Formats: sequence, C-alpha cells, structure tokens
Amino acid sequence: MGSNLVGGRVATPTTPLRCAVFISGSGSGMEALVNAQRSRRLPHETVLVVSNKANVPGLERASRLGLPSLVVEHRRNGENISREEHELEILKGLADHDVELIVLAGYMRLLSPVFLNEWHHRVVNIHPSLLPHFPGGHAHRDVLSSKTSITGCTVHLVDEGMDTGAVLAQRAVPVFESDDEISLSDRVKVEEHRLYPDVLTWIAEGRVHLTEEGVHVQDETDRFVC
Ligand code: GAR
Repeated sequence: MGSNLVGGRVATPTTPLRCAVFISGSGSGMEALVNAQRSRRLPHETVLVVSNKANVPGLERASRLGLPSLVVEHRRNGENISREEHELEILKGLADHDVELIVLAGYMRLLSPVFLNEWHHRVVNIHPSLLPHFPGGHAHRDVLSSKTSITGCTVHLVDEGMDTGAVLAQRAVPVFESDDEISLSDRVKVEEHRLYPDVLTWIAEGRVHLTEEGVHVQDETDRFVC
C-alpha cells in the first residue's frame, strides 16, 4: 500500500512545521490559530500571512501579531493579472519564508492545478459546513435556507475542486430557528478555532497519510480513525 505523509515531514514543538496562512478578509481564524500556537507548545507555527486583498482587517491582525504579510491582489492598475502571475508572486513569498504547509483560512480564491501540483499534500482548508453539504462561498446562507438543524465545519485537503478535497475532520454545530448568517457564522467559528490547531497538530506529528484508499488519520494508539 503506497503512503504519503501529509505535510511532508514529522515536526516537533522545537522544530515546528512552518505554515503560511492565506486569508481574504477578517482573519479571525488566523488570529485564533496563531494564539493557539503561541500559548500551547504545538509542532507548527505561522511564519507568513498571505492575502489576495489589500486593506482587510486580517492584515491589521497580522501586523498586531508581529507577523510578516504578503498582499498579492489579482487586479493591478484596474486590470486582472493572470492566474500564473498571481501565483508566481505567492510562490516566491512562500520560498522566501521557507513555508512547508499552506493553511487556507477564509481564502476565497481557487488555487490552480499547477500550484496544487507543486504543493501536493501540503494545502489544507477549513470550510464552514459539514462537507460535502453546502460547499461554496455562501455556506451559512445555504444552510439557513435548507432548514437543516445541524451544520458545522470541515478541515480538508485542497484539490482542484471547490471544497472537494479529502476530509480530515469535522465538527457539528446546531442551527437555531432564530439564527441569521452572522449568529450562525459566529457559532461555527468558535468550533473552527478549536478544530484547526488540532488538525494541524495531527499533520505536523506525522499522523495523517494519503494512501491509495484515501486519507488515514492515526490516533495515539496508532489506530486509523478515519
Ligand atoms: C471562516 O468561517 C471560514 O471557514 C470561511 O470563511 C470564514 C473566514 O473567517 N471559509 C470559507 O467559506 C471557504 N469556503 P475569518 O476571516 O474571520 O477567519
């Protein structure tokens, strides 16, 4: 059975996996992750924040946290730059900071197959629903119109599709009749902020493998748990 280690190497709190967190907006997930990394001895650290939008609150958070950030907008002088040009600039920033794992946290742009090929097994995303239900950019709106009483969040590997990569972990969150998109998003984010640092720890500890049968996450007793 072929096996590929997600994240590329086994890290420790003294040799942490170097993460770049990609954002497009508020950056609350990025801040929660960095606070977890700094307050607990985790085997991963954030070394760079990448945003495809200038002047977003997440960049102010990064600056308050003392983190370097890289802004690569996809429009320049009123014109769209090519996907290739956009990603080449990002790739250069990742190389400059010796990044090992890409952590998407509210990054609202698809990465190209060429980019993902280069970063195979080393890009993860968090999505605010129980995938495969409610993919896309309006998960909470879609959850509320469906009238379901359970939603949640999903951490998954990133492939070329929209929120389609292999699922690493999920957490359920209740939907209340009184919810609007903001109250639901706030409740889901509480769970997201707990889950993401834990899943990155499993990856950094070398417990997540991609095999011919799919993704395997090992628990402390070496049992496959998903
Ligand atoms: C988070 O809820 C994240 O799951 C979601 O955007 C929010 C970003 O919030 N991501 C997606 O919808 C990706 N499809 P934040 O900027 O405050 O961390």
